[in-house]
Amino acid sequence: MDNFTFQSPTRIIFGKKTELEVGKETKKFSNKILLHYGGSSIKKYGLYDKVIKSLKDENIEIFELGGVKPNPRLDLVYEGIKICRDNNINFILAVGGGSAIDSAKAIACGVNYQGDVWDFYTTDKKAGNVLPIGVVLTIPAAGSEASNGSVITREEGLLKKDYVDDAIRPVFAILNPELTFTLPTEQTLCGISDIFAHGLERYFTNTQNVDFTDRLIEGAFKSLINNAYIVLEKPSDYAARAEIMWIGLVMHNGLFGTGREEDWGSHAIEHELSAIYDIAHGAGLSIVFPAWMKYVYKHDLNRFAQFAVRVFGAERYFNDIERTALEGIKRLENFYKEIGLPTKLKDVNIPDTLLEEMANKSTADGPLGHFVKLETKDVLNILKMTIR
Ligand code: NZQ
Ligand code: ZN
Repeated sequence: MDNFTFQSPTRIIFGKKTELEVGKETKKFSNKILLHYGGSSIKKYGLYDKVIKSLKDENIEIFELGGVKPNPRLDLVYEGIKICRDNNINFILAVGGGSAIDSAKAIACGVNYQGDVWDFYTTDKKAGNVLPIGVVLTIPAAGSEASNGSVITREEGLLKKDYVDDAIRPVFAILNPELTFTLPTEQTLCGISDIFAHGLERYFTNTQNVDFTDRLIEGAFKSLINNAYIVLEKPSDYAARAEIMWIGLVMHNGLFGTGREEDWGSHAIEHELSAIYDIAHGAGLSIVFPAWMKYVYKHDLNRFAQFAVRVFGAERYFNDIERTALEGIKRLENFYKEIGLPTKLKDVNIPDTLLEEMANKSTADGPLGHFVKLETKDVLNILKMTIR
């Protein structure tokens, strides 16, 4: 196990009706806030009214900025920064999923910074005086509700970049699984794919002696798989929605990466797909990950065999470890297909015309990943494996 420092300061308020506590939680930080959210879902399903009432009951002054798109855009971040500066706002409440939260994080970094907030996403610069943000989560997926990351897309040049900084972890996150009953199936699935991917990025590591975190991740995978089948059958199954929502947070708050090197090559490749084609991040990941696994598995057959046996209950062929390893990849891909996730570019109508461009762009700052370092040609080979 490697040395590590881990701090996860987000206060988690979990369970039925917890969104009604948002006013009280927010009041601990501010009397004047920016309420930041996405498209129409929070108004359509009644969450918006509940949040407004809870905030007003605490006499909190509310400025609003809706319209965050999935794969949140830099332009709206600039707008949010201006609203906060013009009105001396010192707290941002994000209501929604990873996109609203990531956009809120970007605004929080930009308000007290004289330069361009995009600097944080493209250079080594760290944000100094970051505004606190709170979250009411409506979709388990990105894990942004407690993570130290924010991912923003700049339309000019189709760049999707992330910024990682412990200072941007939300101060509180409210998670009511009931709010996820209204998710369209496709969004439920993309969330499951993203959560799974956050485990895979940490599971495939070169660090030795990480048995505890291996088993934590394996347990999360198994529970996620079981509960995925349940919610597909019954979208309003509270117990299953609750498991998935909790797994989504813990899979990406950093705990499962403690003491181990993480990879993140597949995420970087996926960000090229969602930057150019504006597909859901989870859909891109269920396409990229099986290809990445097939490309790198020989690097550590034992780890891939362990994944196959412990997560998917595959038979361990003692004389043929490679067969065991491949079985795990096959079963993951079958799981994705069975629940209805795409596993090839054609499933999301992406042509194979820009693979080279994506490979070049993704490695512009150097090779990707850590488990196996991927040069441009490797990324291109992986992308080619997603064609058919
Ligand atoms: O915009 P609205 O109308 O709210 O609809 C959203 C959106 O269309 C809808 N939705 C959300 N909750 C709903 C609902 N519809 C009905 N009922 C509900 N309860 O779902 C759609 C997707 O929302 P979005 O916020 O985009 O989803 P997600 O949470 O998957 O976030 C994706 C973004 O997070 C980034 C991704 O790259 C992507 O940009 N990520 C952020 C990370 C982080 N900050 O740590 C890590 C991840 O790896 C990821 O990269
Ligand atoms: Zn992700």
